[in-house]
Amino acid sequence: MAGKKILLIIGGGIAAFKSLDLIRRLLESGYQVIPVLTKSATEFVTPLSVSALAGEKVHQDLFDLNDESQMGHIELSRAVDLVVVAPVTADLMAKMAHGHANDLASTLLMATDKQVLIAPSMNVRMWEHAATQRNLAVLKDDGILICGPNEGGMACGEFGFGRMAEPVEIIAAIEVALNEGPLNGRHILVTSGPTHEPIDPVRYIANRSSGAQGTAIASALLALGARVTFVTGPADVSPPLGVDLVKIQTAMQMLDAVKAVQNVDVGIFVAAVADWRIVNASDQKIKKNVDSLPVLELSENPDILSTVCASKMRPTLVVGFAAETQNVVKNARAKRQRKGCDWIVANDVSPGTGIMGGSENDVVLITADGTEDWPRMGKDHVARRLAKKIAEELN
Ligand code: C5P
Repeated sequence: MAGKKILLIIGGGIAAFKSLDLIRRLLESGYQVIPVLTKSATEFVTPLSVSALAGEKVHQDLFDLNDESQMGHIELSRAVDLVVVAPVTADLMAKMAHGHANDLASTLLMATDKQVLIAPSMNVRMWEHAATQRNLAVLKDDGILICGPNEGGMACGEFGFGRMAEPVEIIAAIEVALNEGPLNGRHILVTSGPTHEPIDPVRYIANRSSGAQGTAIASALLALGARVTFVTGPADVSPPLGVDLVKIQTAMQMLDAVKAVQNVDVGIFVAAVADWRIVNASDQKIKKNVDSLPVLELSENPDILSTVCASKMRPTLVVGFAAETQNVVKNARAKRQRKGCDWIVANDVSPGTGIMGGSENDVVLITADGTEDWPRMGKDHVARRLAKKIAEELN
């Protein structure tokens, strides 16, 4: 990405201090940063520190005659490769969603013909407010890329979603946005990891999925330029930087999260979703009772893959996984038909194979055209081969 130009708009929030680190890291990675400060941003960081770090003039005024004679705001908004707003405040998001152009930052955002990536930062209640969530939906629909916010403690002392993504996460999102690989412009949904089905607040039903294969697939798709929404259960492996991350615990939450993702070109369902949940899960820790054992009443979880395949929002290409311990190909073929997906990646997860929770996989790819038997290889190799095949299928 060396030599790429970023127009960095810094909004007025406490997280603006992280934007200084972001500038430094962007420069270290070879980017050029053209900084813009909103009026309220100057309450948090000074134009002098921003310009000293960026090595560039800081733009602040819409009606700066000097600027207009050298580089007008229209040109400023277009002479870059990407526009990044970090932090974006609730107010700036509202302006963007409603098309206001009453200061330099909002005017640049209206005038640009480049992709825009925003990193929201605000109090958790402001983030969860119906107005912000409405504006977020509008911005997503307009094709604005969103990075974060993260969950955690905040400067105001509250806890929840609203912390600006860390500079490394924003840079990963910038790299994805600027990647011109064969999957550029494609939006791919990946489900990954196990689900945990609570018995009570401290106990749950789970499975041995580590999330390694789903994570490797998401990384391989990012490397080919895709935008990846990664819906993951509590996995052992950390999610890759650069994905739109949605963390869930249960199958029902995974279904809700998947249904909320819009405009998906490809869906890859790698998650090992628990087949059952406990209907009578307790709000309190179940006490050991000397006279009787607890009875867990199970109910079947919805099949997320089948639900997506049967929905109006079905992606063009849907890939399922089939973890089997016997008659792998026969069962997986039947599963492809039954669930209505296009491809099934089948693997034998019998204990002797070391595949479930291990670093290698031995898969058979089943499509409408037949089966491809791939040799045993690392999960990252399987991921790259699958990502390449998807790119070929779409292009
Ligand atoms: O039926 P089985 O669990 O073997 O199917 C595996 C495939 O279906 C995987 O792609 C898995 O992610 C998906 N699946 C799902 N929802 C479930 C169960 C499985 O999406 N409740």
